Amino acid sequence: MFSRPLRSDLSKHWTLNPETVFLNHGSFGACPEVILDEQDRLRRQLEIDPVQFMEVDARELWAQSLSTLADFINADPEGMTFVTNATSGVNTILRSLDLQAGDEIIISDHSYQACWNTVDFVTNRTGAKTIVVPIPFPTKSNEQVIETILNHVTKRTRLALIDTVTSPTGLRMPFEKLVAELQSRDIDVLLDAAHGPGIVPLDIKKLQPAYITGNAHKWLCTPKGSAFLYIREDRRERIRPLSISHGASVPGTAEERYRFEFDWTGTQDPTAWLCIPQAIGFLGGLLEGGWPAIMEHNKQLALSGRKLLLKALGIPSPSPDSMIVGLAAVPLPGKGTLTASALEPDPLHSLLLEKYRIQVPVFGWPHHDRRYLRIAAHLYNSIEEYEYLAKVLKQEL
Ligand SMILES: Cc1ncc(COP(=O)(O)O)c(C=O)c1O
Repeated sequence: MFSRPLRSDLSKHWTLNPETVFLNHGSFGACPEVILDEQDRLRRQLEIDPVQFMEVDARELWAQSLSTLADFINADPEGMTFVTNATSGVNTILRSLDLQAGDEIIISDHSYQACWNTVDFVTNRTGAKTIVVPIPFPTKSNEQVIETILNHVTKRTRLALIDTVTSPTGLRMPFEKLVAELQSRDIDVLLDAAHGPGIVPLDIKKLQPAYITGNAHKWLCTPKGSAFLYIREDRRERIRPLSISHGASVPGTAEERYRFEFDWTGTQDPTAWLCIPQAIGFLGGLLEGGWPAIMEHNKQLALSGRKLLLKALGIPSPSPDSMIVGLAAVPLPGKGTLTASALEPDPLHSLLLEKYRIQVPVFGWPHHDRRYLRIAAHLYNSIEEYEYLAKVLKQEL
């Protein structure tokens, strides 16, 4: 048995279990203690006078938070709204589309399954088609990805769901080029930036995607349930929130209606969204160079971690280094056994957790008929943690 490695010095800001090697920032993020304290403070403030908080205080904090996040991704705040997660952002857009039989929506075979299911749901109910683009993994280059996706465009393509970073394979997609190429062919892009703010630089004014949704609760480390949706001005009229609420009967300009409809979808705890400015500020202050330095640090750590795993497994790299940011997936040798249900853990996942206390996703990806292991890297991780995982894998496989 090898001795369990320590996290980085910065890990003191997180409340992660010291007994585990936590290499799965990718699934749900992890929130620093000071941000949890801030959320706790806001919740207590809310309960002192819920009406005052919801109708007055939160509205002001909400506007500040939305505008801070909009600045962070350089988006027009008027097109921004908060949603609880990227899944609901994707659902909001797809379920508002007026699809006709024969219309096509492009996704890739690296798309997050929940979003893929949503595309299937809206295409099945309208007679439209889901076009699944197979992107080879190992992946050769950004050009290969772009060419493969563009080859699937037809006259009937209405929309393409493009990831900023893919979930099963941790590939940083050439989304800037894809948005430009697809939209120049009159195909709207819905950017799935679940792994977006804080892991890749985003410049929405420059990109001009028809739609983008993304999580703050992953790489910005905010409390769970904080995400955003941005809709370009010329698409705002056609999109309605998932919950129709008071805003639908409020008279006013299109902008006022948009704000009211999207900002009030029923009573819920707004504090996770309200912590976004503090999280951006706090994390941004942990490294000299702020967020660009954090993204570079996490990318380098993920790359070093991946190198160790590839060496231990004796396999070639599944993508160029330039397609890696804070996440990296490696195929496991052999076909492996696909677990029967998405909720049933892969036996290797359970072994790593139970015997070695390593929390890292290992899962079957039926669309590639393979098993993957995916590491993540954030400020609390250390290179020793990936060395430990590599040694363990070498021993166990
Ligand atoms: C590419 C991608 N899209 C969407 C999601 C869903 O995010 P959430 O669970 O926050 O809705 C994820 C989550 O990991 C993801 O990786």
